[in-house]
Amino acid sequence: MLLVIVIVAYTVPKLTDYSAAAVQKAAGEVLSALGDEAAEIESESEWKAFRDRWMARKNGILTQINDVWLKAAPKEAKREVGQQTNLLKTQVEQKVEGAKAWLRAPVFEVEHSGIEVLAADLEHYRLEKLQGVDITLPGVRRPIGAEHPVMRTWREIVSVFQKLGYSVAEGPVVETDYYNFEALNFPPNHPARDTQDTLFIAGQQSKPQRERLLLRTHTSPVQIRTMEKMRPPLRIVIPGTVHRNDPPDASHSPMFHQIEGLAVDTNITFGDLKGTLDHAMKALFGSSVKTHFRPSFFPFTEPSAELYVTCFICGGSGRRGAEPCRPCKQTGWIEVLGCGMVDPNVFEFVKDNGYDPRKVSGFAFGMGVDRLALLKYGVDDIQLFFQGDVRFLQQFG
Ligand code: DAH
Repeated sequence: MLLVIVIVAYTVPKLTDYSAAAVQKAAGEVLSALGDEAAEIESESEWKAFRDRWMARKNGILTQINDVWLKAAPKEAKREVGQQTNLLKTQVEQKVEGAKAWLRAPVFEVEHSGIEVLAADLEHYRLEKLQGVDITLPGVRRPIGAEHPVMRTWREIVSVFQKLGYSVAEGPVVETDYYNFEALNFPPNHPARDTQDTLFIAGQQSKPQRERLLLRTHTSPVQIRTMEKMRPPLRIVIPGTVHRNDPPDASHSPMFHQIEGLAVDTNITFGDLKGTLDHAMKALFGSSVKTHFRPSFFPFTEPSAELYVTCFICGGSGRRGAEPCRPCKQTGWIEVLGCGMVDPNVFEFVKDNGYDPRKVSGFAFGMGVDRLALLKYGVDDIQLFFQGDVRFLQQFG
């Protein structure tokens, strides 16, 4: 089939409709006509004629548009038409300049040098231009994205445990009091609930306490949800978003991320907990880090501990040259997570699914992803992670 494309020289039409949509449409036609004409230019002198036709003060198309559209516009449409024609003017100027740049582009010379492939390429560009794509404009550089430092840390932690045979589980962010507290052995009105700074969903008072909704304050409720669904033995990691009623500052955010771990089997001991976490910390922060467990308290583990690793910034010395090491507050140790042996009271809630506390035992742990990402990348303000400032994020590309 032979395709004949006839280009009719553009003339500025009078507008009858001055609505924004109509003016925009008319402006679109101008640009498309301009693109068509630009595609035909083959020499410097043709380009000059083209430039004068569009941009000459006296009777150039831009001037005509000014007279025929803007001056004739009714008062109430002037502002809108003015903005549109200004924008159009800039676009036309850019395209006219662009057409010249293209004339000079080395690829144009290639056509004459007889390299067929590139000449064909050029022809392809011309055809594309005829279809309204103006390749005379500078190209749009699409920046290559980078993985967000929090998500990268999240993925690294999860993958360390996946390599140990753990599966990944997830659960809802809007949670009930039952899963977030009660089944984790936080009794109603127990002061341990206060440590969680819970954000409650409004309008829940008429429900029994255990059914009331809240934003989960930790990923631990997914321990219960998973044990309800899967019988032991179990090895899972649970990454997710959690919320607390903390005003934002350099080290707090009302939304942050945690990764939880849970292993249950017939003979799990504190030794297994220590060995697993020691291995995981070495995999995450380097084989030279040492781990250290200190007694702590969580309602859902007994005994409970906090895990510290030797500071991976200063290597455990507490100093960086002559300066004190800030991330570890000169102690040489950094707290990375809470952990412990699953409290038998927790198993009682899922006993019917094979978790008889006299038969199974397990360990659990939970860590803050954002805090680890801050330390890992030497970022001093957690807010930077959530503001979406490209200048910050670009540094992780
Ligand atoms: N859920 C605890 C918190 O957010 C962290 C935690 C501590 C999780 C000990 C655990 C654990 O699984 O065993 O503060």
